[in-house]
Amino acid sequence: MTHFLDIATTEPADLRGILDNALAMKRARAGRSKGAPDDDRPLDGRMVALIFEKPSTRTRISFDVGVRQMGGETMVLSGKDMQLGHGETIADTARVLSRYVDLIMIRTFEEATLQEMADYASVPVINGLTNRTHPCQIMADLLTFEEHRGPIAGRKVVWSGDGNNVCASFIQAAGQLGFDLTFTGPATLDPEAVFVEAARAKGATVTIERDPLKAVEGADLVVTDTWVSMHDPQSARERRHNQLRPYQVNERLMAAAKPDALFMHCLPAHRNEEATNAVMDGPHSVIFDEAENRLHAQKAVMRYCLGV
Ligand code: CP
Ligand code: NVA
Repeated sequence: MTHFLDIATTEPADLRGILDNALAMKRARAGRSKGAPDDDRPLDGRMVALIFEKPSTRTRISFDVGVRQMGGETMVLSGKDMQLGHGETIADTARVLSRYVDLIMIRTFEEATLQEMADYASVPVINGLTNRTHPCQIMADLLTFEEHRGPIAGRKVVWSGDGNNVCASFIQAAGQLGFDLTFTGPATLDPEAVFVEAARAKGATVTIERDPLKAVEGADLVVTDTWVSMHDPQSARERRHNQLRPYQVNERLMAAAKPDALFMHCLPAHRNEEATNAVMDGPHSVIFDEAENRLHAQKAVMRYCLGV
């Protein structure tokens, strides 16, 4: 069973294959309308369940459109409307769903839920975000970087802000694909040490630098994300904002990176909080290419999982 649960447990050669395939599929569709199917329709006759226990715009729509472009069908399910939300075990849900569908994508809270789904499903399971990781986002980010700037190996990526789930997947990617990653943010919001240590053990240079201006020196890519994630308690909002304000990505910070540095944000953004409008809409920003590439990257992830 080929699941796509996180970047660290997907072999580097497989990550590379997914990125190459995503780019090839994107190029093959150039100029077509969004609803036009791909020529080869590799998901013809396949049914994909998309389960959301948290809100989503990009993940939901890009998976749905991607499956249809590949000739398959989807059902989009809200966790709270399923028995899953009323006490049916994840294991039973996984075994039941596996009798109906060919592939499961789930966005959930605890990583344990994703793992249990994968352990008990007899079809592939894709991680559409947990509290700890967001691998599909990072596949889109890697694709976007490489489209604009070529191979990411050996480049310097700087994450400014909260060491959250998206940051964790970026750190895992540094370990798998051999680029440098610098985290800059307050010590209270550092990424989990286990992610940092695992990437270092694979040979990546992962640096923690409290001074954001120093951190971005030589950066090829500056990335940030919302200061309060969906699983964070709203009561933490003010404290987080106070701690993270020095790490806002603004024109001054971008000016301290390489002149051709890219800016990314997985979206949704709180404009003029974690990043200013001037940066989000400025010359370094590739945020909408990044959003588009969710579609192409995830199509390649689904093909990888299904072996088609
Ligand atoms: N970036 C991302 O996953 O967006 P959604 O929450 O809208 O799916
Ligand atoms: N860190 C954010 C990412 C949203 C796509 C969250 O988990 O809410």
